[in-house]
Amino acid sequence: MTTSTAIFVPFTTEELLVESKESLYYGLNALSNNIILADRKELKNPNGLILGTPGSGKSFMAKREITNIMLSTNDDIIISDPENEFFPLVKAFGGQVINISPTSKDYINIMDINLNYSDDDNPLSLKSDFLLAFFEQIFLTGLNPVEKSIIDRCIKLVYQPYMSNPTDENIPLLSDLYNLIRKQREDEANNLAVALELYTTGNFDYFNNKTNVNLQNRLISFNIKELGTQLKKVGMLVVQDQIWNKVTRNRNLKVATRTYMDEIHLQLKEKQTANYTIENWKRQRKYGGIPTGLTQNVKDFLASPEIESIFENCSLLKIMS
Ligand SMILES: Nc1ncnc2c1ncn2[C@@H]1O[C@H](COP(=O)(O)OP(=O)(O)OP(=O)(O)O)[C@@H](O)[C@H]1O
Ligand SMILES: [Mg+2]
Repeated sequence: MTTSTAIFVPFTTEELLVESKESLYYGLNALSNNIILADRKELKNPNGLILGTPGSGKSFMAKREITNIMLSTNDDIIISDPENEFFPLVKAFGGQVINISPTSKDYINIMDINLNYSDDDNPLSLKSDFLLAFFEQIFLTGLNPVEKSIIDRCIKLVYQPYMSNPTDENIPLLSDLYNLIRKQREDEANNLAVALELYTTGNFDYFNNKTNVNLQNRLISFNIKELGTQLKKVGMLVVQDQIWNKVTRNRNLKVATRTYMDEIHLQLKEKQTANYTIENWKRQRKYGGIPTGLTQNVKDFLASPEIESIFENCSLLKIMS
């Protein structure tokens, strides 16, 4: 039996009543009827998964947890909402809904960065991983080593003004990266630039704008419902990056960041985004992030070769039936 299937077999019944001032309610024990209280911060790691068929109550479970977090902790919350179903709750708590769509005027810059973005001296290394995952999402056939080197070289160049003077004005745009790539002398650079055009001057130029929304709110929901199928995966990747930005900023402020990623199987389906998602998932604990993945597509989810890393880094698993 593999680790991922073993986890589904309930060999024992255990009472779960973690006494902590931030313990939240998770339901009743089906056998003993005792209340289930847990504080995810006290678990071996705080990561969680909510799995179940459509209509089984996954979103409801997330909404209940979010409500309890708002009422009994000071943690920040970010939701990636593919159905635009969280907005009544977010609005009720005075939170902010950010509409991500090609026609929206709420802008998120794919190039956003902050100095705490990475643990080592160079925040660019993690940003570079993210941008490579973005490029690989565009080039589904994969990038060759020459293309990767060109991208890496241009990323270092494009962030130079920000690295020497880290102000918001110095955060570049994707079109700055595009212009640099176009100037490189290798033939591959031209191919990269042409492919990138769609995202800088073409139909998908939405992410080529300075961020104009305030991300300071305690409760933020990214509504990605109106992104078409082609942009949805890129959109989810960009939301993951914004989440990382917030988690790293909050770490410095000693604030925990709880995140909810619905339809997480979409990010695990392809190798490129799967690697980024899993690395991101594993990093969260150290940075005070508390991520929760939700999916109704358990088949796709389990088919992902990297799935064991997700299960092994996950202490809260809720299977709705
Ligand atoms: N506002 C509401 N009023 C009444 N019933 C609701 C409401 N929201 C959800 N439900 C019902 O509660 C149950 C659980 O819904 P929920 O949205 O949590 O399911 P889900 O597991 O997230 O489904 P999906 O996979 O489609 O996202 C469903 O039967 C749904 O029809
Ligand atoms: Mg749902």
